[in-house]
Amino acid sequence: MCGITGYIGENKTTDILIDGLKRLEYRGYDSCGIAVVDGKNKLYLRRVSGRVDALDKLVAGDPVKGAQSGVGHTRWATHGAPSEDNAHPHTDCAGEVVVVHNGIIENYLDLKEKLQAGGHKFKSETDTEVIAHLMEDKLKALHVQAAAMRAEMLEPVFFEAFRRTLADLKGSFAISMVWARCPGLLLAARMHSPLVIGLGKGENFIASDVSAFLKHTKKVVFLNDGELAAVRMDGVDYYTFAGKKTAKDSVTIQWDSTMAEKGGYKHFMLKEIHEQAEAVENTLRGRLLPLGGEILKAEMGLSAEAMKGFSSLQFIACGTAYHACLVGRGLFENFGLVASADVASEFTDRAKLMARGTLVVAISQSGETADTLFAVREAKAGGAKVLCITNTVGSTLTREADYVLYTHCGPEIGVASTKAFLGQLAAIYLLAGHFAAARGRLSGAEARRYAEDLLKIPRLIEETLEKEPEIAKIAEAFSASEHFLFISRHLNYPIALEGALKIKEISYVHAEGYPAGEMKHGPIAIIYKGMPLLAVAPSGRTLDLMAGNVEEAKARGADVVAIVDAASRKTVKASRYITLPEAPELFTPMLTVLPLQLFAYYVALAKKCDIDKPRNLAKSVTVR
Ligand code: M6R
Repeated sequence: MCGITGYIGENKTTDILIDGLKRLEYRGYDSCGIAVVDGKNKLYLRRVSGRVDALDKLVAGDPVKGAQSGVGHTRWATHGAPSEDNAHPHTDCAGEVVVVHNGIIENYLDLKEKLQAGGHKFKSETDTEVIAHLMEDKLKALHVQAAAMRAEMLEPVFFEAFRRTLADLKGSFAISMVWARCPGLLLAARMHSPLVIGLGKGENFIASDVSAFLKHTKKVVFLNDGELAAVRMDGVDYYTFAGKKTAKDSVTIQWDSTMAEKGGYKHFMLKEIHEQAEAVENTLRGRLLPLGGEILKAEMGLSAEAMKGFSSLQFIACGTAYHACLVGRGLFENFGLVASADVASEFTDRAKLMARGTLVVAISQSGETADTLFAVREAKAGGAKVLCITNTVGSTLTREADYVLYTHCGPEIGVASTKAFLGQLAAIYLLAGHFAAARGRLSGAEARRYAEDLLKIPRLIEETLEKEPEIAKIAEAFSASEHFLFISRHLNYPIALEGALKIKEISYVHAEGYPAGEMKHGPIAIIYKGMPLLAVAPSGRTLDLMAGNVEEAKARGADVVAIVDAASRKTVKASRYITLPEAPELFTPMLTVLPLQLFAYYVALAKKCDIDKPRNLAKSVTVR
């Protein structure tokens, strides 16, 4: 995920911005840059494709000692490949307005077209650049571009142009901006993407998270959605986007700067678990309504007609992404569409049997997994069309697939996949909804209901994660166990597999995920007295059967932790419960997996394992 820094004060602006960017490196990025303005209204813009160290070297000889304000950015490519041209900051045609941005401007194509028709020349492929050009137009409309006004007199104009620019933007953004003609004022705004102000003495800071400036100040103000900040050397004023001044309280951060590099979390895995509501929200945003219509066509060329034409779907992936495939299979089948799912490394002769009408859906966080890429090539050779779901812009998979559906989870650093899985599920639910509506499996009213239910999931994720303290206690109680069983049925069976995989990966203990109904056909023999068994049993059509399977396991000595909701808790008899908020049955996998991730995390923590870098594992597996 991208990172923003901003500074205004009498210290060394360039050094502070670059140090801040270094502290945001953990977020993951592919290019970076800074822009600073000196006392003579001269702007210095420096960008590199690559690491902050290279940027640091680049600016070492710059004559920017007098700079009093500036902004910096680490970019994780979304619109446009990772390159120097696409790196932030971006400027207007005059090279005076400078912007850095996190998030996605959903209406950038519309805006860009209009701006180009008005004579603006674009220098990058990014959505962000429209912001700088829009500002240029707004400033012109306020008749100031040519006027020789003193910087202080320009401040209200800069502010008003910024406000008007924000009114034109749709999507998610954290923005920080500097205008060369007005170096005493930095502007910042937030909508669905975090932004925080650091309050110093005679200096102030802007950043996407506090780790960027924590070594200078611990006094911070968090912006809310729809708020903007006018940041000067001697103080900060806060406003709504409508221009109404608001009072905001500052808080004092207790973290030290080392902790803050992981956003205050002990491990990236835990941080990423807590980013899952955002990952789902970002993946769904602007892509759901109307279902079955033109949205997927506009984004990746997949029309309603094409969706009607496929005879079946074939999911392929590895590891956690394969578990997302299994949920996808169940979901499409629920809508009466033929679907299968295979582990990519086992998709050998089957690839050649793909009918021409099959849509192969390949899922990969990295987009670089060798097994998945190989399976895709085989399927394509057989004549199948390929749609990929990935989190990584410009990855090999995106270049080989016919259709690309991005998840917008931000970089996942922990080797154990968590938020990427939720992003994949969100993309699958999105795709299934569009397919079902296009093929008449959901009526207009049902499609709307489906979309509304899906949009509630991020809030339910947050509610579920509030159970963390009790999940931690249960995990600690079982942490000495060398064996774990996870069972469930139907759409939650893949969640049982995922629960077992998570604990294997980071705790190095034996764990099995099983379809609950299969237990009596063999695996039940391994149950011993006190063996931990996690039963995923939300309300729904499989509940009574699940309750029976739990009884069978208990009768053989299993110590059962049941993942339930308030209603199913009455039916399933376990020794411990983790009770989740109620959700429509179809959507429960996006909630039931959360306690299993936290359970695995806390077992590994109790075992003192290297959670973010488990033994023998790599984040991206590029060999077959
Ligand atoms: O990048 P991919 O999604 O293709 O990776 C697939 C698997 O290697 C990955 O999900 C792996 O299983 C994770 N470490 C699971 O936590």
